[in-house]
Amino acid sequence: MSGHAMPMTAREFQDLAFARNHGLISIDEQDAIGRAIVAIPGMGGVGGQHLISLVRTGFRNFRLADPDTFELVNTNRQFGATNNSVGRSKLTVMTEQAQAINPHVQVEPFPEGVTPANLDTFLRGADVVVDSLDFFAFDIRRKLFMRARELGIPVITAGPLGFSTAVLVFTPSGMSFDEYFDIREGMSQEECFLRFALGLSPRGMHFRYIDRSRVSLRRRKGPSAYIACQLCAGVASTEAVRLVLGRPGVRPVPAYLQFDPYLDKFCAGRLLGGNRNPLQRLKLAVATKFLLSRGERNGHQPPSKPGSDGRFPVSREEFRYLIGAASAAPSGDNAQPWKFRTLPTGLAVHMVPEADTSFFNIRQIATLIACGAAAENAALAAGTLGYGAQVELPDTLDSGGLAATVNLTEGGTEDPLAEVIWERCTNRRLFKRTIVSDGVLERLQAEVGRFGCRLHTVRGEQLKSLARLVYQADRIRTEHRGLHEHFNSMVRFTEEEALEKLDGLPLKNLYGGAAGEAFLKLTRDWERMRVANALGFGRIVASHSAEGIVNSGAACLLTVPGMAWKDFVTGGRALQRCWLKLTDLGLAMQPMTAVTLFRLRWILEGQGGFEAKHRDMLRDLWPKFDSLFPEADFRTEGQVMLFRIGYGRAIEHGTYRKAVEAALLL
Ligand SMILES: Cc1cc2nc3c(=O)[nH]c(=O)nc-3n(C[C@H](O)[C@H](O)[C@H](O)COP(=O)(O)O)c2cc1C
Repeated sequence: MSGHAMPMTAREFQDLAFARNHGLISIDEQDAIGRAIVAIPGMGGVGGQHLISLVRTGFRNFRLADPDTFELVNTNRQFGATNNSVGRSKLTVMTEQAQAINPHVQVEPFPEGVTPANLDTFLRGADVVVDSLDFFAFDIRRKLFMRARELGIPVITAGPLGFSTAVLVFTPSGMSFDEYFDIREGMSQEECFLRFALGLSPRGMHFRYIDRSRVSLRRRKGPSAYIACQLCAGVASTEAVRLVLGRPGVRPVPAYLQFDPYLDKFCAGRLLGGNRNPLQRLKLAVATKFLLSRGERNGHQPPSKPGSDGRFPVSREEFRYLIGAASAAPSGDNAQPWKFRTLPTGLAVHMVPEADTSFFNIRQIATLIACGAAAENAALAAGTLGYGAQVELPDTLDSGGLAATVNLTEGGTEDPLAEVIWERCTNRRLFKRTIVSDGVLERLQAEVGRFGCRLHTVRGEQLKSLARLVYQADRIRTEHRGLHEHFNSMVRFTEEEALEKLDGLPLKNLYGGAAGEAFLKLTRDWERMRVANALGFGRIVASHSAEGIVNSGAACLLTVPGMAWKDFVTGGRALQRCWLKLTDLGLAMQPMTAVTLFRLRWILEGQGGFEAKHRDMLRDLWPKFDSLFPEADFRTEGQVMLFRIGYGRAIEHGTYRKAVEAALLL
């Protein structure tokens, strides 16, 4: 039969469109399905899929809620997310999709999403709720389940976990949400998430293959796949059919089921007592210890994000947020060599030359790099607030030290890298030796390429050659009195000192291990370090650096086209984007700057600053270093940074930042 010319009644349409349901669903049952009202509180990953699956089953009366619009990042899992729907309301797009399948679909829309205020209107008269709230929308989910129970409405929840679906059914006469998940007033959000996750999937099968480092409770993010959303819709819709038709077989909580085609496993059981079950309590205790404490790093914390519409004037809170983001940038020894001045439509980044007096900070290059990184962070954070941002460098570097201005415009969008500003860190642990792929390196190159910068890479066996050179250069660190004394003045030997000064390097952040920490404490004084050097112990520090290079997936050298001051500010911007990209991709990074900063001193200031034995060592080192990076032209290109990257354990001890007020130039 070709297209239908005559408008049909809902019943005529139903009899034709859903004819193939017969045999599974009787005529009367199909009518009942046509009359039933289904409430779906979100149109994202599982919600959109639930809707389509239910519409094709013959349901046609819906209460649908979602306040959001589709974003490109929804593409991997959300039915309605297409190139054409980016920026459009999820509710509108999914209503169109449903009505394209069945023009008789009636939708009662809740474009503000489900809220405590509209919960009753959303639920009243519904026959079933198919939960599709975001995993992290815990408070409203709890209210929804409680109210539905009071109103006598069953709720089905199907969670896409890894490649699996985990399904629970709550009926008005069975256990309640709070009883099953063992939720009590006053629990932290993180604890509630954990209880929800463990109750949803008591066996936790999917944990076998999920990369847990990609689960971030703080960012409210975790892996989620379309495959699992489809499975959820299939299972949840089956339960909805059963409930609406009063068919037998509904197994309310504490019954659970999880189906994981990736593991070829199906498990169904009863979790007696819900999360109060002794075994479950044990799991909760272990998970709390390992999940909630893991990934939580001490050190600087993100400032709260102010509400913003990206329109002028820029409020005090918005400036605080921008300065907080800028200060989260890296700087040599965490000297934070910057100050910020607020402008009517932007932020000025000034360098503070006296903040970093290290022998390494030749011609303030380390400071310029740090200021470039800070400006890039501020520009990215501006996007989060809805502003557009352009970084501009002044023509000359005057006595006021203005290094960059972040000019804001009204209306802008968030760059995904802005999300990881507060996660980026220096990781001085040893990394896995898994070679970092071309694909990853090409992505990093694309980030630095925006600034005309280049990345030169060493991988595999060649890392050993580089490690030998790094060892040579790092020996100078402990044998040079100025370097030694400056470094020690920046180490914060106790947590109290770190918290009081809010700059420098907390001892634990150096990841030297118990022996390394003892050695650092013992050799704070130059005379003692001299003795240690004479006895050959100084080399321990250099060996540690060399070991770091070997225990990496790659080492990269970032270069800029020139060696003028502006090149290094631009290099700092490129470095920051590259470091944020690495963070976003789940890779760790540590700068190894002795070689490059010594080289810049050598080129720009001559050999005078080095002792004779170190001059000989470096003279021998340069050609070997150059041969490892044959593509780089060290006569013209500025070396911004040598760093090692790889896959490794996250750090737990971070660095601190001074308060926003202390970084303000009034
Ligand atoms: C120009 C520059 C040079 C740096 N040199 C080194 C280095 O040689 N070794 C190292 O472990 N970290 C180095 N760092 C990292 C800083 O110590 C680090 O950024 C700072 O302590 C703040 O910590 P965070 O990066 O974890 O936020 C350098 C950072 C910058 C910006």
